[in-house]
Amino acid sequence: MEYGTKTGNPARAKTQCIVVGIYDNQKLTDSAALLDTASEGHIRKILKRGDMKGKANQTLLLHDVPNVNSPRVLLVGLGNLDTADGARFVGIARAVITQLKQVPAKNILCCLTEAESGGKDLAWKTRRTIEQFEAGLYSYTEMKGKKSESESVNEQVDFQLGDKKDQREVSAAINQAKALTLGIAAAKDVANTPANICTPSYLASAARKMARDYASITTTVLEEKDMEKLGMGAFLSVGQGSDQPSKLIVMRHKGAKPKDKPHVLVGKGITFDTGGISLKPGATMYEMIYDMCGAASVYGTMKAIAEQKLPMNVVGVLAAAENMPSGNASRPGDIVKTMSGQTVEILNTDAEGRLVLCDTLTYIDKFNPASVIDVATLTGACVIALGSHAIGLFSNDDTIANNLLEAGEDTLDRAWRMPIWEEYQTQINSAFADMQNIGGREAGSITAACFLARFTKKYRWAHLDIAGTAYKWAGVNKGATGRPVTLLTQYLNNRASES
Ligand code: BES
Ligand code: MN
Ligand code: ZN
Repeated sequence: MEYGTKTGNPARAKTQCIVVGIYDNQKLTDSAALLDTASEGHIRKILKRGDMKGKANQTLLLHDVPNVNSPRVLLVGLGNLDTADGARFVGIARAVITQLKQVPAKNILCCLTEAESGGKDLAWKTRRTIEQFEAGLYSYTEMKGKKSESESVNEQVDFQLGDKKDQREVSAAINQAKALTLGIAAAKDVANTPANICTPSYLASAARKMARDYASITTTVLEEKDMEKLGMGAFLSVGQGSDQPSKLIVMRHKGAKPKDKPHVLVGKGITFDTGGISLKPGATMYEMIYDMCGAASVYGTMKAIAEQKLPMNVVGVLAAAENMPSGNASRPGDIVKTMSGQTVEILNTDAEGRLVLCDTLTYIDKFNPASVIDVATLTGACVIALGSHAIGLFSNDDTIANNLLEAGEDTLDRAWRMPIWEEYQTQINSAFADMQNIGGREAGSITAACFLARFTKKYRWAHLDIAGTAYKWAGVNKGATGRPVTLLTQYLNNRASES
């Protein structure tokens, strides 16, 4: 979809559909009032009939409103004005695109951003609208044998501006949102690609392609032999049962002076997680094509910031391997040596994410990072603790933690902090090695984070457990969510404007 801005009386606009908001109790927004005046009370008349009460997310499509140029007017309920907030606004934007998709209108005038939303500014409302519209229009069709026609004919959305002076702010927001949504779509595409195609080598090719597409990005790939030289015994143990070679993929975005410390993002990229010899139950194993969503979100974030030409250095690292059972696979009880020198007793080969991440987190210290954030579909326990709305956040640094919480609150790609207190560390102590890779039933997402914390002492670090938020298996929105590309992009943008 293309996005732009328009000013003037919406009743005169040359467009094929106008989207206007109606508050609860049939209170009109400014644009709705202009249409009502032009049509000599037609809108109010319809509302009086009771078909549209103005409850949040309610919609009603009107045709041929008298004296309105556009053949269609889509009324959308905004709910109670006094309790309006950002989260509700986002839901409304989603409801609007669900309807618009079914309307054969190429051009749309969107008056939604004039809706009061608990103090959110125009730029915010513009960004969130575009984010929701693009999410609503996204579908993964790459694997369909017959290419079906796109479901929607919508081509252009213009945001109605009450005041011409808002033009600059809204245009800038449109550009930011375009970059962001390209990143989100890129993350979804690789995440949704099935594991027979999306292997570690596939991720490496995709990352190399991004380096060709953007001058700011360079990609290098460490092969298994390189990882052997570095002593990455934990990382290599995960892929050793697979015919697919593991890859450590390093993407660098150079947007600032070479000496400027980079922010480093690390993504878990298990392209399929069978559990290994500690085999997962079969019933829902297919979900584990999404065990590379951490890597996908880092990849998507790199695209978003490259699109934005963000003036900052960022390193994105994808820790890619496939976890398979075989005669070469690691066994429960194996002990491996990590790049850090610490040894790990692998009591469960299904706790593999922390094994690829620990060596990657040791490796990236060489970049002298300003901050490090790893993103991983790490634990089923996180899904039990937080469900599918909040990302689990763990950190050794209050500033980074608070920065991430703030970026999440702002964008509504929200995280919730959990503790990694020293007390939990005893659960992963091992009699035979320096640590074991599982910590028992209690506090499973915390002990996983505590494991990573043993490898991140040299820098300021946060860990995002996205097991519950990265994808939805069922429903109309089945597939990768693209989270937390929005959170990470906002976090980095905030850091860029700090310095
Ligand atoms: N990839 C899984 C975690 C996961 C589970 C992600 C469900 C998304 C949905 C991870 O590798 C795993 O298997 N973790 C184990 C750890 C356990 C063996 C300590 C888990 O959560 O059961
Ligand atoms: Mn696993
Ligand atoms: Zn896994």
